[in-house]
Amino acid sequence: MTVRVLGIETSCDETAAGVVADGRLVLSNIVSSQASFHERFGGVVPEVAARKHVEMITLVLREALDSAKVGPGDLDAVAVSAWHGLFGALIMGVAAAKALALAYRVPLIGVHHVEGHMYANVIAEPDIDFPHVCLTASGGHTMIVYVRNHGDYQVLGETRDDAAGESFDKIAKFLGLGFPGGPLIDRLSKAGDSRAFAFPRPMIRDESLDFSFSGLKTAVTNTLKQYLAEGQQFSTADVAASVQEAIVEVLVKKAVFAARRRGVSTIAVTGGVAANTRLRHLIREVAEMEGFRVVIPPNALCTDNGAMIAAAGFHKLIRGKTSGLDLAPLASAPLSEGS
Ligand code: KG4
Ligand code: ZN
Repeated sequence: MTVRVLGIETSCDETAAGVVADGRLVLSNIVSSQASFHERFGGVVPEVAARKHVEMITLVLREALDSAKVGPGDLDAVAVSAWHGLFGALIMGVAAAKALALAYRVPLIGVHHVEGHMYANVIAEPDIDFPHVCLTASGGHTMIVYVRNHGDYQVLGETRDDAAGESFDKIAKFLGLGFPGGPLIDRLSKAGDSRAFAFPRPMIRDESLDFSFSGLKTAVTNTLKQYLAEGQQFSTADVAASVQEAIVEVLVKKAVFAARRRGVSTIAVTGGVAANTRLRHLIREVAEMEGFRVVIPPNALCTDNGAMIAAAGFHKLIRGKTSGLDLAPLASAPLSEGS
């Protein structure tokens, strides 16, 4: 019997819903991005995000159900990103999920947003090895997680300040590139020289698996201010490529270090930053040279989407981890929340 789970994601600026069969087959994955509404502010405005979710959620849900060819009687559960994100934005998805679960008389499943990202790896590779090490990096978090099994996580390291995606976004804003900065820096870097600027690789030699990215932005702004003060020319593409290289090198080095230290054979990479071309290339190059298997989902599953929440929801459903209609969103919660 096929188990179909609807996943809803509204933790930040994407209104998203997807239907996944048996936790692995994506039947639909609809994402409505609000990026153009936030662009002029240079970042996500929580109030605007929440309002846009209200406008878009029913349309996105209808499209997700229609394109999956799923009717009211065909859904087995409704999963929703409930923990970790903008509170006002999370509330919208959770309210919609409760209404649908109630109307369809199916279980409601709260999912930690970061756990959702990690399930993009399970969709990409349903037979992924356990335990494995997962690097997950987005605009709201950067973590290295030891994944013992479904729902069994140990956070080995995380950022002490800015998330990797946040760092891309802030530096792109400073360079006047637009929002979101990650994809813009990624594109521009292709025309730049990554060795043009020796930006710091924060904590790269540190034994700890934590990250710190806030100093990188300061280093970039100080360097460029000095160039301007001295009347020196610089290429924005070179700056972009050098920044990208610094961030990516730290992420790759720590992920491989963690995998070596924990003796696993597989490294999974997910979250919006996993869409980065250079990261995808370098992690494969470095990890595969050392004999690790690398799992990286396609870009559409790395950035926020409903299918990853549905897949996580499926695995919680079979573990009996459903939520009550009193499910309360939390802006920040440990990864183990509800797992
Ligand atoms: O996972 P996600 O869609 O939303 C959050 O949970 O935050 O990640 C969005 C983040 C943004 O910071 C964005 O700039 C970054 O992921 N991002 C990228 C790329 N695509 C998205 N960063 C670097 N290179 C990319 N190609
Ligand atoms: Zn995310």
